[in-house]
Amino acid sequence: MRKLSRFTLSSAAAVMATVLFTSTAAAAPSPGAPGAGDPYYPLDGNGGYDVSHYDIRLTYNPNSDLLSGTTTILARATQELSQFNLDFLLRVNSVRVNNAAARFTSTDDGELVVTPTRPLALGANLTIVVQYSDVPSNPEYTLNGFNAWTRTPTGALAINEPQIAPWWYPSNNHPTDKATFDVSVAAPQGVEVLSNGNLISRQQMINGWIRWSWRSLRPQNTYNTFIVVGQYDDLRISTTPNGQPYINAYANDLGDNLDPARASIERTPEVTEFLETQFGPYPFEAQGGVVTNNGELGFALETQTRPVYDGLFFRRGSNTSVVAHEMAHMWFGDSVSVHGWTDIWLNEGFATYAEFLWSEWNGEGTPAELAQFLYDSIPADSGFWQVLPGNPGPDNQFDDAVYDRGGMTLQALRTAIGDDAFRQLLRDWPTAKRYSDATTAEFIAMAEAVSGQQLDELFDTWLFTAGKPEVGPNGAVAARTATVAAEPKSFQKIKYTHELLAQAGR
Ligand code: TRP
Ligand code: ZN
Repeated sequence: MRKLSRFTLSSAAAVMATVLFTSTAAAAPSPGAPGAGDPYYPLDGNGGYDVSHYDIRLTYNPNSDLLSGTTTILARATQELSQFNLDFLLRVNSVRVNNAAARFTSTDDGELVVTPTRPLALGANLTIVVQYSDVPSNPEYTLNGFNAWTRTPTGALAINEPQIAPWWYPSNNHPTDKATFDVSVAAPQGVEVLSNGNLISRQQMINGWIRWSWRSLRPQNTYNTFIVVGQYDDLRISTTPNGQPYINAYANDLGDNLDPARASIERTPEVTEFLETQFGPYPFEAQGGVVTNNGELGFALETQTRPVYDGLFFRRGSNTSVVAHEMAHMWFGDSVSVHGWTDIWLNEGFATYAEFLWSEWNGEGTPAELAQFLYDSIPADSGFWQVLPGNPGPDNQFDDAVYDRGGMTLQALRTAIGDDAFRQLLRDWPTAKRYSDATTAEFIAMAEAVSGQQLDELFDTWLFTAGKPEVGPNGAVAARTATVAAEPKSFQKIKYTHELLAQAGR
């Protein structure tokens, strides 16, 4: 380019050359953006780099809540960087970038601002090492007004949505940047440490503590990465019939909820096999479930490969609905993630629909029956119909409407495009977007492509318009013949499950 311009410059080319030169100058090293551009959480995630792996190596003392250790991040610069941010709330002792000590400052709103000694080139491989030691439960460590770290009588739970990472490891904290994870935590003897994926080793240390090392080999969201530290009985390490490592753990004080919890969680591989018939191959390399003591967590979360459930889900007896819900998130939420938190119904609507499908498989009510019963049972003047599943706002991100109206939206779609196209879509969507993230607009486009129909009116009505849709999820014919049908057998269990799940967001 330079050579050519020297000899053949026309005046137009000269202008272009100037423009190019200027834009090259503008792309000189600059700070990475402090956020990934999420509409609800502008400071979540960061610009200027892309993480491929986290190596989190910590020591945790349940008595003092002291968490200390080192997180090593492998990343690539996606722009020329003079400075970049990580999302982190704890006090930092040192930061190194490619082995050189870097300057750093921590802001009140959870940004760790790192300035390497020399600018980083576009495309450069980065090894970022952060050392820290702090108490995550410190009430001053809040995002959006609350501290997401949970201490328990015997340990702690690093489990929350949409944010948990900033309380225990520095990260690019947004679903648009997934990575693989090694999570290793040393804790006192008698205390278990659970996390995602496979248990690589349990090593006895010279001080008598045990170091637990876990590895998750498929792309994973920061909020789907968890640790549970505490007294867990009955740690069961086995293999599923199709050969996947399978680890469950039950908290030490579940009382009467222990047996119903086991009667539900121990069926995880069966539920997963069923979901595979609906959504295609299970996207991850391990399975399991962790049940916390009653009320400790208050909800359940789709932590990758191994969801965590509060014991309260099993208060009324076994509950495989919640297992179907959380395992469905492995496809919808974990493997295919929201592009922005506005897209949350793509997680919760599908997980709800999976509960409907599981109910049908068990002869306890079909999706059509469940969606219709829901629709009929919520009066038009209920506040429920005022929340837009397609854009609920950060305060209503986990409202019932995101779950139930989201599920009804899928039934309305099925009514419009027919069973064959709908079944195709349930497989094609998680296949096309596997290990990636996606928007509602992309889902609508795929639904239109698979069905050959124009569907924006349907989605506008169900996702983006306040008020009860005039025509129910099974169409006009069902609406005309609507004699409030008998309550499907699974209805109360699903309702109770959603009440607990949706409550978590409040
Ligand atoms: N996404 C979780 C589920 O549906 C539930 C949930 C909603 C949640 N809001 C939360 C979990 C807040 C933790 C924190 O299974
Ligand atoms: Zn859910």
